[in-house]
Amino acid sequence: MLIAPSLLSADFGKLREEIEMLNESDADLIHVDVMDGRFVPNISFGFPVMDVLKKYSSKPLDIHLMIVEPEKYALRFAEAGADWISFHLEATVHAHRLLQQIRDAGKKAGIAINPQTGVSQLEPLLNDLDFVNIMSVNPGFGGQNFISSTLKKVAGLEKIRSAQQLGFLIEIDGGVNLQTAGILRDAGADILVAGNSVFRSENPSAEITRLKNV
Ligand code: DX5
Ligand code: ZN
Repeated sequence: MLIAPSLLSADFGKLREEIEMLNESDADLIHVDVMDGRFVPNISFGFPVMDVLKKYSSKPLDIHLMIVEPEKYALRFAEAGADWISFHLEATVHAHRLLQQIRDAGKKAGIAINPQTGVSQLEPLLNDLDFVNIMSVNPGFGGQNFISSTLKKVAGLEKIRSAQQLGFLIEIDGGVNLQTAGILRDAGADILVAGNSVFRSENPSAEITRLKNV
């Protein structure tokens, strides 16, 4: 399983040290939550922080766009050093086009879905994406409780994936900790995003290793 610590819960007063800790850890990706105050009721960070991440991170950057009209900014994030880019199905009317554009830019393209969106809505896109980000909390904030009905969605998507022999990865985002990680893995999750459980633990690097080995 791949572990993607979410920077949203990091200590921004020592961002460089946090990135260096992640570089030394068993993290596979660094998950970067971009919020615009419109798609979600919160604002996080943008390009200046991307520059710092690019400069100091040795891990691939997994950019999760929680913004309306992601087609306006996704390619700029690609230029800014994103390696993986996901945007919300609920935020654009041209999801397929944007997936193609992200792939054409040489990046891994993903779609994120809110808790109320069913996996059946992804079916027409599954041949043309590299990963699906299933949100297991309502996007906008770290530290929320895992929504348990997400598990059925993971299992449902995994079933479609095996039936159609597709190769996309399933990422889970929100409320992931040592308690929820095991059941998510069993349901078919490949990438676990973890914010609070990593950065609020006594030893974030050890917590990443524990999540990875769950
Ligand atoms: C929420 C973000 C998540 C968040 C997860 O909108 O997309 O990536 O950082 O945080 P935790 O792991 O604390 O639920
Ligand atoms: Zn996220």
